[in-house]
Amino acid sequence: MADKPTKGLADVVAASTALSDIDGRAGRLFYRGYDIHDLAGRTSFEETAHLLQCGTLPTRTQLAEYGAELVRGRVLGPLVEANIAEIAERQAPMEALRTLVSLAGADDPDKDSNALDANRRKAARLTAQQPILVARYHAARSGRQAPEPDPELSIAANFLLQITGRTPSEREIEIFDTCLVLHADHTMNASTFAARVCAATLSDMHSAIVAAIGTLKGPLHGGANEQVMRTLETIPPDGVARAVRERLAAGQKIMGFGHRVYKTEDPRATHLREMSRELAEASGDATYYRMSKEMEEVVHAEKGLYPNVDFYAATVYHYLGIPTDLFTPVFSVSRMSGWTAHVIEQHADNRLIRPDSEYVGESDRKWVPIDER
Ligand code: COA
Repeated sequence: MADKPTKGLADVVAASTALSDIDGRAGRLFYRGYDIHDLAGRTSFEETAHLLQCGTLPTRTQLAEYGAELVRGRVLGPLVEANIAEIAERQAPMEALRTLVSLAGADDPDKDSNALDANRRKAARLTAQQPILVARYHAARSGRQAPEPDPELSIAANFLLQITGRTPSEREIEIFDTCLVLHADHTMNASTFAARVCAATLSDMHSAIVAAIGTLKGPLHGGANEQVMRTLETIPPDGVARAVRERLAAGQKIMGFGHRVYKTEDPRATHLREMSRELAEASGDATYYRMSKEMEEVVHAEKGLYPNVDFYAATVYHYLGIPTDLFTPVFSVSRMSGWTAHVIEQHADNRLIRPDSEYVGESDRKWVPIDER
């Protein structure tokens, strides 16, 4: 008989990884040993993806090669091209991405190999394609053409251009790029765990990513950033404290607060708060930023909870002109770099992930024929 389970697998060490590490008490996050505070604002998303997927911060030559691979990888396959318009019409953003990545798997030239070199190529293609899928989905449902991806532009710049249809400022690009860096990897979060469980059956990378996208979709995980914005949009600007207290009194959770691992401020929130403040001031209407600050104070006073990555990401994306229902897809654009790196790591040293369960049902029951029940 199995031991008593820890509900939600809290504090259970489920895998070994060299990709990222969290010190929850000190509020610190590391990618392959580099402190997130050293990377944010100084290292591009492309460099970060290379760090995660290939193991090192790239040299200029390596970055040029990896960048060229990403640009080549932006081309969508025939199955995706043939179906994206109809999918955009019928599926919500995260559902659509789940479907589109599945179709991209069928289009991928390395789909039948889990070898390291094939996995690295797929990781680069998936990282390159995810922002294009989001942009093309958004364009299709809006009845317009997305601007062609510009091979000279970074993932961050290209995404903002394709989503908003206008050329973003240098500072907007820097801020969005930093957002992508901050969301790239985060140890054994639910979607990464789902990807690793799938990969550990020796299933392929695209299948693992489909599992991850379905898991990120939920409001207790990636879906929280969208819910944060919806909350800010529904409460009156001068009614923040009342609304928070009412929700807490009703036993509701306040989205964007709390974390399984961090017992203090999430280090990613530190950067996102500052970027939200800067964009709010530049926009000339800092209402949502001010509301967020007040909400942070009230939630901390009432529950002792800190904002997590999703809280200030919501207003940052809002001020950058990204539609609210694309906030979780944006999370996936970044996390693709980490998910794929975890699949590479899992396949490189694999054992089936198959935990035990505690049986809580009835036992020794007497079977009776169907007509006697
Ligand atoms: N608002 C209000 N109360 C919260 C809360 C929140 N956002 N997050 C946690 N709590 C409370 C719970 O109600 C619970 O209180 P109780 O012990 O009195 O019942 C306690 O804190 C522990 O919460 P629990 O849900 O068991 O913690 P967890 O480790 O399982 O969950 C989260 C972590 C992130 C899922 C949880 O904090 C949450 O749901 N946050 C909101 C969603 C969110 O922002 N998700 C993005 C995460 S990056």
